[in-house]
Amino acid sequence: MKDVFVGLGANVGDRAGNLYQARRALAGLPGTRLTGVSRVYESEPVGVRDQPRFLNQVVELETVLGPTDLLEALLQIEARLGRVRTVHWGPRPLDLDLLLYGRVRMSTLALTLPHPRLWERAFVLTPLSELAPGLSTPWDEGVAAAAARLSEEQPLAVWHPRLVGAPLLRLREIGSTNAEALRLAQRGAAEGTVVVAEAQTAGRGRQGRRWLSPPGLGLYLSALFRPAYLEPLQAPLFTMLGAVAARRAAAALSAGNVALKWPNDLVAGSESPPGGRGRLRKLGGVLAEAVSSGPALQAVVLGVGLNLNHQPEDFPPDLRPAATSLAQLTGDRIDRDLAQDALLDALNEVYLTFLTRDADTLWDEFRAHLTTLGREVTLTLASGTLRGRAVDISAQTGALLVELPDGELRSCAAGEVEAT
Ligand code: BTN
Repeated sequence: MKDVFVGLGANVGDRAGNLYQARRALAGLPGTRLTGVSRVYESEPVGVRDQPRFLNQVVELETVLGPTDLLEALLQIEARLGRVRTVHWGPRPLDLDLLLYGRVRMSTLALTLPHPRLWERAFVLTPLSELAPGLSTPWDEGVAAAAARLSEEQPLAVWHPRLVGAPLLRLREIGSTNAEALRLAQRGAAEGTVVVAEAQTAGRGRQGRRWLSPPGLGLYLSALFRPAYLEPLQAPLFTMLGAVAARRAAAALSAGNVALKWPNDLVAGSESPPGGRGRLRKLGGVLAEAVSSGPALQAVVLGVGLNLNHQPEDFPPDLRPAATSLAQLTGDRIDRDLAQDALLDALNEVYLTFLTRDADTLWDEFRAHLTTLGREVTLTLASGTLRGRAVDISAQTGALLVELPDGELRSCAAGEVEAT
Protein backbone atom coordinates (compact mmCIF):
# COMPACT_ATOMS: atom_id res chain seq x y z
CA MET A 1 0.00 0.00 0.00
CA LYS A 2 1.21 3.48 -0.86
CA ASP A 3 0.45 6.81 0.85
CA VAL A 4 1.04 5.57 4.36
CA PHE A 5 2.20 8.37 6.66
CA VAL A 6 3.79 7.95 10.08
CA GLY A 7 4.52 10.76 12.54
CA LEU A 8 7.74 10.59 14.56
CA GLY A 9 8.40 12.50 17.78
CA ALA A 10 11.13 12.52 20.44
CA ASN A 11 11.87 14.79 23.39
CA VAL A 12 14.23 12.74 25.57
CA GLY A 13 17.83 11.63 25.08
CA ASP A 14 19.52 12.00 21.70
CA ARG A 15 16.35 13.23 20.00
CA ALA A 16 17.70 13.36 16.44
CA GLY A 17 19.52 10.05 16.95
CA ASN A 18 16.24 8.47 18.07
CA LEU A 19 14.47 9.70 14.93
CA TYR A 20 17.37 8.36 12.84
CA GLN A 21 17.04 4.92 14.43
CA ALA A 22 13.27 4.98 14.00
CA ARG A 23 13.59 5.74 10.26
CA ARG A 24 16.04 2.87 9.87
CA ALA A 25 13.76 0.53 11.77
CA LEU A 26 10.77 1.55 9.62
CA ALA A 27 12.75 1.04 6.42
CA GLY A 28 13.75 -2.40 7.70
CA LEU A 29 10.16 -3.66 8.24
CA PRO A 30 9.16 -6.56 5.99
CA GLY A 31 7.96 -5.45 2.54
CA THR A 32 8.38 -1.80 3.48
CA ARG A 33 10.15 1.11 1.81
CA LEU A 34 10.62 4.67 3.00
CA THR A 35 9.43 6.81 0.09
CA GLY A 36 9.43 10.26 1.69
CA VAL A 37 11.08 12.01 4.64
CA SER A 38 10.06 15.50 5.79
CA ARG A 39 12.36 18.00 7.43
CA VAL A 40 12.65 17.82 11.20
CA TYR A 41 10.74 20.44 13.22
CA GLU A 42 11.12 21.50 16.82
CA SER A 43 7.86 22.10 18.71
CA GLU A 44 6.62 23.04 22.14
CA PRO A 45 5.05 20.17 24.09
CA VAL A 46 1.26 19.84 23.96
CA GLY A 47 -0.70 18.70 27.02
CA VAL A 48 1.93 18.33 29.76
CA ARG A 49 3.85 21.54 29.05
CA ASP A 50 6.58 21.21 31.65
CA GLN A 51 8.85 18.95 29.61
CA PRO A 52 11.56 19.36 26.96
CA ARG A 53 10.73 20.43 23.42
CA PHE A 54 10.01 17.78 20.82
CA LEU A 55 11.60 17.02 17.50
CA ASN A 56 8.95 15.96 14.99
CA GLN A 57 9.03 14.53 11.52
CA VAL A 58 6.69 12.71 9.14
CA VAL A 59 7.73 9.88 6.84
CA GLU A 60 5.90 8.26 3.97
CA LEU A 61 5.97 4.50 3.52
CA GLU A 62 5.11 1.96 0.93
CA THR A 63 4.32 -1.29 2.71
CA VAL A 64 2.74 -4.71 2.34
CA LEU A 65 1.81 -4.70 6.03
CA GLY A 66 -1.84 -4.05 6.75
CA PRO A 67 -2.84 -1.24 9.16
CA THR A 68 -3.06 -3.43 12.26
CA ASP A 69 0.23 -5.23 11.59
CA LEU A 70 1.90 -1.92 10.88
CA LEU A 71 0.58 -0.47 14.15
CA GLU A 72 1.94 -3.51 15.99
CA ALA A 73 5.33 -3.01 14.31
CA LEU A 74 5.34 0.68 15.32
CA LEU A 75 4.66 -0.25 18.94
CA GLN A 76 7.52 -2.74 18.85
CA ILE A 77 9.91 -0.13 17.47
CA GLU A 78 8.83 2.33 20.18
CA ALA A 79 9.40 -0.29 22.86
CA ARG A 80 12.78 -1.26 21.44
CA LEU A 81 13.97 2.33 21.34
CA GLY A 82 13.03 2.87 24.94
CA ARG A 83 9.62 4.43 25.21
CA VAL A 84 7.99 3.76 28.54
CA ARG A 85 4.29 4.60 28.41
CA THR A 86 3.79 6.17 31.83
CA VAL A 87 2.54 9.74 31.69
CA HIS A 88 -0.04 10.30 28.96
CA TRP A 89 1.44 12.98 26.69
CA GLY A 90 4.60 12.84 28.82
CA PRO A 91 8.29 12.75 27.82
CA ARG A 92 9.30 10.09 25.31
CA PRO A 93 12.46 8.97 23.54
CA LEU A 94 10.28 7.99 20.59
CA ASP A 95 6.65 8.32 19.65
CA LEU A 96 5.35 6.78 16.42
CA ASP A 97 1.83 7.60 15.22
CA LEU A 98 0.15 5.96 12.27
CA LEU A 99 -1.42 9.05 10.72
CA LEU A 100 -2.90 7.90 7.43
CA TYR A 101 -3.07 4.58 5.67
CA GLY A 102 -4.10 5.49 2.14
CA ARG A 103 -7.84 6.18 2.18
CA VAL A 104 -8.56 3.62 4.89
CA ARG A 105 -11.05 4.70 7.53
CA MET A 106 -11.42 2.52 10.55
CA SER A 107 -12.00 2.74 14.26
CA THR A 108 -11.20 -0.04 16.68
CA LEU A 109 -10.08 0.09 20.30
CA ALA A 110 -6.47 -0.03 19.17
CA LEU A 111 -6.47 2.03 16.00
CA THR A 112 -8.37 4.90 14.45
CA LEU A 113 -7.61 5.98 10.90
CA PRO A 114 -7.02 8.72 9.94
CA HIS A 115 -5.34 9.48 13.27
CA PRO A 116 -8.00 11.18 15.45
CA ARG A 117 -5.89 14.24 16.28
CA LEU A 118 -4.20 14.52 12.90
CA TRP A 119 -5.90 17.76 11.89
CA GLU A 120 -5.35 19.53 15.22
CA ARG A 121 -1.59 19.55 15.41
CA ALA A 122 0.82 21.87 13.66
CA PHE A 123 3.76 19.57 14.39
CA VAL A 124 2.07 16.85 12.34
CA LEU A 125 0.39 18.89 9.60
CA THR A 126 3.43 21.04 8.78
CA PRO A 127 5.79 18.15 7.99
CA LEU A 128 2.92 16.21 6.41
CA SER A 129 2.18 19.11 4.06
CA GLU A 130 5.76 18.83 2.73
CA LEU A 131 5.16 15.25 1.66
CA ALA A 132 1.50 15.45 0.62
CA PRO A 133 0.76 19.04 -0.41
CA GLY A 134 -2.41 17.95 -2.25
CA LEU A 135 -4.08 16.59 0.88
CA SER A 136 -7.20 18.28 2.30
CA THR A 137 -8.74 18.29 5.75
CA PRO A 138 -12.24 16.77 6.19
CA TRP A 139 -13.61 20.35 5.91
CA ASP A 140 -11.80 20.83 2.58
CA GLU A 141 -9.09 23.15 3.82
CA GLY A 142 -5.74 22.47 2.12
CA VAL A 143 -3.23 20.79 4.43
CA ALA A 144 -0.68 23.63 4.05
CA ALA A 145 -3.29 26.29 4.92
CA ALA A 146 -4.42 24.27 7.94
CA ALA A 147 -0.80 23.83 9.04
CA ALA A 148 -0.09 27.56 8.69
CA ARG A 149 -3.23 28.45 10.66
CA LEU A 150 -2.40 26.02 13.48
CA SER A 151 1.24 27.05 13.72
CA GLU A 152 0.16 30.56 14.79
CA GLU A 153 -1.01 29.10 18.11
CA GLN A 154 1.40 26.15 18.18
CA PRO A 155 4.76 27.62 17.20
CA LEU A 156 7.28 25.34 15.57
CA ALA A 157 10.39 25.81 13.47
CA VAL A 158 12.58 23.77 11.20
CA TRP A 159 15.31 22.24 13.38
CA HIS A 160 18.55 23.55 11.96
CA PRO A 161 21.07 23.70 14.81
CA ARG A 162 24.77 24.37 14.69
CA LEU A 163 26.07 20.92 15.59
CA VAL A 164 29.66 21.20 14.41
CA GLY A 165 32.10 23.78 15.75
CA ALA A 166 31.40 24.24 19.46
CA PRO A 167 33.59 24.16 21.40
CA LEU A 168 36.31 25.16 18.97
CA LEU A 169 39.91 24.68 20.10
CA ARG A 170 42.43 26.70 18.11
CA LEU A 171 45.99 25.55 18.68
CA ARG A 172 49.25 26.93 17.37
CA GLU A 173 50.87 23.52 17.06
CA ILE A 174 49.94 19.95 17.93
CA GLY A 175 51.06 16.46 16.93
CA SER A 176 47.81 15.65 15.16
CA THR A 177 44.41 17.31 15.49
CA ASN A 178 42.84 13.86 14.98
CA ALA A 179 44.86 12.39 17.85
CA GLU A 180 43.94 15.35 20.04
CA ALA A 181 40.22 15.09 19.22
CA LEU A 182 40.33 11.35 19.95
CA ARG A 183 42.00 12.07 23.28
CA LEU A 184 39.28 14.61 24.10
CA ALA A 185 36.63 12.08 23.04
CA GLN A 186 37.98 9.57 25.57
CA ARG A 187 37.60 12.24 28.23
CA GLY A 188 33.96 12.81 27.35
CA ALA A 189 34.14 15.80 24.98
CA ALA A 190 30.81 16.63 23.38
CA GLU A 191 29.66 16.04 19.83
CA GLY A 192 30.61 19.03 17.69
CA THR A 193 33.96 19.66 19.39
CA VAL A 194 36.47 20.87 16.80
CA VAL A 195 40.26 21.00 17.03
CA VAL A 196 42.12 23.16 14.54
CA ALA A 197 45.87 23.78 14.48
CA GLU A 198 48.15 26.13 12.59
CA ALA A 199 50.70 23.34 12.29
CA GLN A 200 50.91 19.62 13.00
CA THR A 201 54.15 17.86 13.83
CA ALA A 202 52.75 14.35 13.35
CA GLY A 203 49.80 14.85 10.97
CA ARG A 204 48.25 11.53 10.06
CA GLY A 205 47.21 10.43 6.58
CA ARG A 206 45.48 7.33 5.34
CA GLN A 207 47.16 3.94 5.61
CA GLY A 208 49.67 5.09 8.22
CA ARG A 209 51.10 7.84 6.00
CA ARG A 210 52.15 11.22 7.29
CA TRP A 211 50.32 14.41 6.43
CA LEU A 212 52.82 17.23 6.07
CA SER A 213 51.40 20.16 7.97
CA PRO A 214 53.71 23.18 7.95
CA PRO A 215 52.51 26.39 9.64
CA GLY A 216 50.52 28.92 7.70
CA LEU A 217 49.98 26.91 4.54
CA GLY A 218 47.16 24.48 5.17
CA LEU A 219 43.96 23.95 7.12
CA TYR A 220 44.23 21.09 9.62
CA LEU A 221 40.93 20.46 11.32
CA SER A 222 39.24 17.60 13.18
CA ALA A 223 35.61 17.38 14.27
CA LEU A 224 34.18 15.00 16.85
CA PHE A 225 30.89 13.17 16.30
CA ARG A 226 29.05 10.92 18.72
CA PRO A 227 26.83 8.74 16.56
CA ALA A 228 25.80 6.26 19.28
CA TYR A 229 22.78 5.52 17.04
CA LEU A 230 25.09 3.80 14.50
CA GLU A 231 26.83 0.45 14.58
CA PRO A 232 30.65 0.29 14.40
CA LEU A 233 30.44 -1.17 10.87
CA GLN A 234 28.87 2.06 9.68
CA ALA A 235 31.91 4.19 10.54
CA PRO A 236 33.07 4.40 6.86
CA LEU A 237 30.02 6.57 6.26
CA PHE A 238 31.97 9.38 7.85
CA THR A 239 34.70 9.26 5.23
CA MET A 240 31.99 9.93 2.67
CA LEU A 241 30.41 12.73 4.78
CA GLY A 242 33.83 14.34 5.23
CA ALA A 243 34.72 14.06 1.55
CA VAL A 244 31.40 15.55 0.42
CA ALA A 245 31.69 18.43 2.90
CA ALA A 246 35.36 19.17 2.18
CA ARG A 247 34.67 19.11 -1.57
CA ARG A 248 31.79 21.57 -1.19
CA ALA A 249 33.98 23.90 0.89
CA ALA A 250 36.95 23.68 -1.51
CA ALA A 251 34.70 24.24 -4.54
CA ALA A 252 33.13 27.30 -2.87
CA LEU A 253 36.55 28.74 -1.98
CA SER A 254 38.01 28.23 -5.44
CA ALA A 255 34.79 28.81 -7.42
CA GLY A 256 36.03 25.88 -9.41
CA ASN A 257 35.89 22.26 -10.15
CA VAL A 258 37.03 20.10 -7.29
CA ALA A 259 36.58 16.37 -7.63
CA LEU A 260 36.94 13.34 -5.38
CA LYS A 261 39.24 10.41 -5.78
CA TRP A 262 38.09 7.27 -3.98
CA PRO A 263 38.17 6.87 -1.09
CA ASN A 264 39.08 10.19 0.48
CA ASP A 265 41.13 12.52 -1.72
CA LEU A 266 40.16 15.95 -2.93
CA VAL A 267 41.65 16.56 -6.36
CA ALA A 268 41.66 19.45 -8.81
CA GLY A 269 43.28 20.54 -12.02
CA SER A 270 42.76 19.50 -15.57
CA GLU A 271 42.97 16.18 -17.26
CA SER A 272 44.96 16.08 -20.45
CA PRO A 273 44.09 14.76 -22.91
CA PRO A 274 40.45 15.39 -21.83
CA GLY A 275 39.02 12.29 -20.21
CA GLY A 276 42.39 10.61 -20.41
CA ARG A 277 44.95 9.74 -17.80
CA GLY A 278 44.86 12.91 -15.79
CA ARG A 279 47.11 15.38 -14.14
CA LEU A 280 44.58 15.83 -11.39
CA ARG A 281 46.49 16.92 -8.32
CA LYS A 282 45.76 16.33 -4.70
CA LEU A 283 44.24 19.29 -2.89
CA GLY A 284 43.31 17.68 0.38
CA GLY A 285 42.28 14.53 2.19
CA VAL A 286 39.93 13.18 4.82
CA LEU A 287 40.73 10.77 7.61
CA ALA A 288 37.92 9.31 9.76
CA GLU A 289 38.93 7.46 12.90
CA ALA A 290 36.38 5.69 15.08
CA VAL A 291 36.12 4.54 18.67
CA SER A 292 33.53 1.89 19.41
CA SER A 293 32.55 -0.07 22.43
CA GLY A 294 30.26 -3.08 22.11
CA PRO A 295 27.49 -2.63 19.57
CA ALA A 296 27.63 1.19 19.45
CA LEU A 297 29.85 3.67 17.73
CA GLN A 298 31.09 5.85 20.61
CA ALA A 299 32.91 8.52 18.67
CA VAL A 300 34.12 9.34 15.20
CA VAL A 301 36.80 11.93 14.57
CA LEU A 302 36.69 13.36 11.11
CA GLY A 303 39.96 15.02 10.11
CA VAL A 304 40.30 17.23 7.06
CA GLY A 305 43.54 18.53 5.63
CA LEU A 306 43.21 21.16 2.92
CA ASN A 307 46.11 22.73 1.01
CA LEU A 308 45.45 26.46 1.08
CA ASN A 309 48.51 28.56 0.30
CA HIS A 310 51.19 26.10 -0.82
CA GLN A 311 53.31 27.04 -3.79
CA PRO A 312 54.97 24.17 -5.71
CA GLU A 313 58.24 24.60 -3.80
CA ASP A 314 56.40 24.11 -0.49
CA PHE A 315 55.77 20.46 -1.34
CA PRO A 316 58.59 17.91 -1.09
CA PRO A 317 59.99 17.16 -4.60
CA ASP A 318 58.43 13.70 -4.77
CA LEU A 319 54.92 15.07 -4.07
CA ARG A 320 55.30 18.22 -6.20
CA PRO A 321 53.95 16.83 -9.49
CA ALA A 322 50.90 15.37 -7.75
CA ALA A 323 49.92 18.13 -5.31
CA THR A 324 48.24 21.52 -5.56
CA SER A 325 46.61 24.14 -3.35
CA LEU A 326 43.61 26.46 -3.50
CA ALA A 327 46.00 29.42 -3.94
CA GLN A 328 47.53 27.77 -7.00
CA LEU A 329 44.07 27.12 -8.42
CA THR A 330 42.75 30.62 -7.85
CA GLY A 331 45.94 32.66 -8.11
CA ASP A 332 44.96 34.33 -4.81
CA ARG A 333 45.97 33.93 -1.19
CA ILE A 334 43.34 32.03 0.76
CA ASP A 335 42.29 33.38 4.13
CA ARG A 336 42.53 30.57 6.68
CA ASP A 337 39.60 31.79 8.80
CA LEU A 338 37.42 31.96 5.72
CA ALA A 339 38.45 28.44 4.75
CA GLN A 340 37.78 27.20 8.28
CA ASP A 341 34.29 28.77 8.30
CA ALA A 342 33.48 27.32 4.87
CA LEU A 343 34.54 23.87 6.02
CA LEU A 344 32.61 24.05 9.31
CA ASP A 345 29.48 25.25 7.49
CA ALA A 346 29.76 22.42 4.99
CA LEU A 347 30.37 19.81 7.69
CA ASN A 348 27.34 21.08 9.60
CA GLU A 349 25.06 20.99 6.56
CA VAL A 350 26.20 17.55 5.45
CA TYR A 351 25.92 16.08 8.94
CA LEU A 352 22.43 17.57 9.40
CA THR A 353 21.26 16.13 6.09
CA PHE A 354 22.60 12.74 7.10
CA LEU A 355 21.10 12.88 10.58
CA THR A 356 17.68 14.23 9.73
CA ARG A 357 16.92 13.00 6.19
CA ASP A 358 19.06 10.22 4.74
CA ALA A 359 22.47 9.41 3.38
CA ASP A 360 21.25 8.56 -0.15
CA THR A 361 21.47 12.05 -1.59
CA LEU A 362 24.95 12.41 -0.06
CA TRP A 363 26.12 9.12 -1.56
CA ASP A 364 24.78 10.38 -4.91
CA GLU A 365 26.78 13.59 -4.51
CA PHE A 366 29.88 11.55 -3.60
CA ARG A 367 29.43 9.33 -6.66
CA ALA A 368 28.75 12.28 -8.95
CA HIS A 369 32.11 13.86 -8.11
CA LEU A 370 34.22 10.72 -8.17
CA THR A 371 36.78 10.87 -10.96
CA THR A 372 36.96 7.14 -11.54
CA LEU A 373 33.41 5.77 -11.63
CA GLY A 374 32.54 4.13 -14.92
CA ARG A 375 36.18 4.09 -16.00
CA GLU A 376 38.86 1.48 -16.46
CA VAL A 377 41.08 1.58 -13.39
CA THR A 378 44.17 0.07 -11.90
CA LEU A 379 43.84 -0.63 -8.23
CA THR A 380 46.87 -1.11 -6.05
CA LEU A 381 45.94 -3.24 -3.06
CA ALA A 382 48.03 -4.63 -0.23
CA SER A 383 47.79 -8.01 -2.00
CA GLY A 384 48.79 -6.82 -5.50
CA THR A 385 47.36 -4.99 -8.49
CA LEU A 386 43.92 -5.29 -10.06
CA ARG A 387 42.64 -4.00 -13.36
CA GLY A 388 38.96 -3.56 -14.14
CA ARG A 389 36.10 -1.08 -14.44
CA ALA A 390 35.07 0.93 -11.38
CA VAL A 391 31.31 0.42 -11.39
CA ASP A 392 29.96 1.70 -8.09
CA ILE A 393 30.49 2.47 -4.44
CA SER A 394 28.79 0.42 -1.74
CA ALA A 395 26.56 2.68 0.34
CA GLN A 396 26.96 0.24 3.22
CA THR A 397 30.74 0.11 3.47
CA GLY A 398 32.08 2.74 1.09
CA ALA A 399 33.94 -0.04 -0.78
CA LEU A 400 34.76 0.45 -4.46
CA LEU A 401 33.07 -2.17 -6.65
CA VAL A 402 35.29 -3.17 -9.54
CA GLU A 403 34.20 -5.35 -12.45
CA LEU A 404 37.09 -7.58 -13.47
CA PRO A 405 37.65 -8.55 -17.14
CA ASP A 406 36.03 -11.97 -16.51
CA GLY A 407 32.86 -10.25 -15.21
CA GLU A 408 33.52 -10.96 -11.54
CA LEU A 409 32.51 -8.10 -9.25
CA ARG A 410 35.18 -7.41 -6.64
CA SER A 411 34.55 -5.22 -3.60
CA CYS A 412 37.67 -3.31 -2.52
CA ALA A 413 37.66 -1.76 0.93
CA ALA A 414 41.03 0.02 0.64
CA GLY A 415 43.63 0.75 -1.99
CA GLU A 416 44.97 3.29 -4.46
CA VAL A 417 42.97 3.80 -7.61
CA GLU A 418 44.18 5.28 -10.91
CA ALA A 419 42.21 5.68 -14.12
CA THR A 420 43.98 3.79 -16.92
C1 BTN B 1 44.82 11.45 3.50
O1 BTN B 1 44.59 11.95 2.41
O2 BTN B 1 45.61 10.51 3.63
C2 BTN B 1 44.08 12.00 4.71
C3 BTN B 1 44.75 13.22 5.25
C4 BTN B 1 44.06 13.79 6.48
C5 BTN B 1 44.85 14.90 7.11
C6 BTN B 1 44.12 15.61 8.20
S1 BTN B 1 44.90 17.09 8.71
C7 BTN B 1 43.83 17.25 10.05
C8 BTN B 1 43.65 15.86 10.62
N1 BTN B 1 44.68 15.56 11.57
C9 BTN B 1 45.47 14.55 11.15
O3 BTN B 1 46.42 14.09 11.79
N2 BTN B 1 45.07 14.13 9.96
C10 BTN B 1 43.90 14.84 9.50
